[in-house]
Amino acid sequence: MSKQTLADLYANWSQLEEQKDKWQTLSLQKLFQDDPNRASRYSVAAAGLELDYSKNHVDEEALNLLLGIAEQADLAGAIKRLLRGDHVNNTEDRPALHSALRYQGEAKTDEQKAVKETLQKMEKLVNDVFSGVWTGFSGKKITDVINIGIGGSDLGPRMVTKALTPYHTGDVKVHFVANIDGAEIDDLLKALNPETSLFLIASKSFSTLETLQNSLTARQWMLDNGCSVEGLAQHFVAISSKIDKAVEFGIGAENIYPIWDWVGGRYSLWSAIGLPIAFAIGMENFYKLRTGAAAMDEHYANAPLERNIPVLMGLLMFWYSNVLDSHTQAILPYAYHLQLLPAYLQQLEMESNGKQVSREGKELNYQTGSIVWGTEGTNGQHSFHQLLHQGKIIQPIDFIATLSAHHSLDHQHKFLFANCVAQSQALMTGRDLETSIAELRAQGLSDDEIHFIAPHKVHPGNRPSSTIFMESLTPETLGALIAAYEHKVYTLGVLWDINSFDQWGVELGKLLGTHVATAIDTTDIPADWDSSTQMLIRRFTEKNQNL
Ligand code: F6P
Repeated sequence: MSKQTLADLYANWSQLEEQKDKWQTLSLQKLFQDDPNRASRYSVAAAGLELDYSKNHVDEEALNLLLGIAEQADLAGAIKRLLRGDHVNNTEDRPALHSALRYQGEAKTDEQKAVKETLQKMEKLVNDVFSGVWTGFSGKKITDVINIGIGGSDLGPRMVTKALTPYHTGDVKVHFVANIDGAEIDDLLKALNPETSLFLIASKSFSTLETLQNSLTARQWMLDNGCSVEGLAQHFVAISSKIDKAVEFGIGAENIYPIWDWVGGRYSLWSAIGLPIAFAIGMENFYKLRTGAAAMDEHYANAPLERNIPVLMGLLMFWYSNVLDSHTQAILPYAYHLQLLPAYLQQLEMESNGKQVSREGKELNYQTGSIVWGTEGTNGQHSFHQLLHQGKIIQPIDFIATLSAHHSLDHQHKFLFANCVAQSQALMTGRDLETSIAELRAQGLSDDEIHFIAPHKVHPGNRPSSTIFMESLTPETLGALIAAYEHKVYTLGVLWDINSFDQWGVELGKLLGTHVATAIDTTDIPADWDSSTQMLIRRFTEKNQNL
């Protein structure tokens, strides 16, 4: 069977491909010289965010070609289908209704009513813990809340909790445990008091190995440290769509907070999966996070495609991935508290769009998804920015910045912002050979030295980036930022004709993980396994005879 190509999907695809060289060499500096209004023309503001995409390799012609593709993909129709709850997750035959989790109007549908009820239940729990109505087994007030979850049941809440540090109420300390590596929970338990610890077991499926094992470890630790079996009810609550499994694990039905099949794990931080966030910043601020996301939903639903932030972010990434052959994208938040954003976006983008067949199961011959990576500025400048400036890989970058900070060290915030802007400027302008030579000459170097050193100082420039900025990082602007990326991911899924809401690709590794664990337990290693796998298991069993 022939593979699906982008030319099968888009009539103007060959026109785009034929001009690849032209797009690749399009001079950003010339685009700015030719159009003094380029920055304002190529900027959009919505929901408290501004996207400046003027330092990208696109001109009016390129944008029109991309908008033509969006039209052929019926992106406008696809956005409507997502937001009204059509079964856009076609392989699992269900909607992807994360937007319903932050819906602001009166609850009318079953989903909206279920969300409202759950928010009320969350609010009661948070307030009861804060006020001391909910205590530990010995009657002491809860001081520490520990989220046990992984992937979508960890990364979103962990990232937001860190991002909104200035909003922490201080009523409880919030911690996260994800890894099956016992080192993580072992380190944490050493610092906790069982009498004052509340564990949130967050697992949509309630069958994730890491989460169940860590929960069993926490449960045993409680029992070993003075808590009775009955007392456990005061120390464990669960968030899951599999209520029966959570009950089977020993959590009382009244202590289970539902999520639903129509919410993807990596899109779920707005639901009860966001409980750790609510414990950190209080329910009022949790509501504000949802409000910010709802404002971005509104913008995604109603703004024309050419002025629509998530649509533009998606179209640009499609451009870089499929026309300009970039395989990666860097996320560089110039905001210390956003340091976990790249890790969160890795799951959001790569688990959603790392796909190799179309929505109908046809093999694809074009790139989908891209490698997301990054860290907070200015730290990255002193490590990997060398490659961004002089390496041979050209990739798009999202700089994220805030105009004001939550602290009073204004001069440091000025340097932070200045560095962010300077990086995007330097990546674009570069430094040519003549300038390098002139600089070295001014320093008094000999001709031989100049001849040797100058090429090493050349920065080719013309490297693309977007800047997303906001007044300051608040629950509302963070909500809008996350929702913008969620919708960017869906936009790309539509353009690539893939289902962004399943994740079958994680299954095989999980299955083989249990097989390998069984082989270790039984020391019965299947003879038809490859010699490398056999050798590695043997080395482990030799060292761990008494497991
Ligand atoms: O293994 C991948 C995955 O299924 C993610 O999609 C999900 O976010 C994570 O595991 C955790 O799943 P759960 O919430 O069901 O424990």
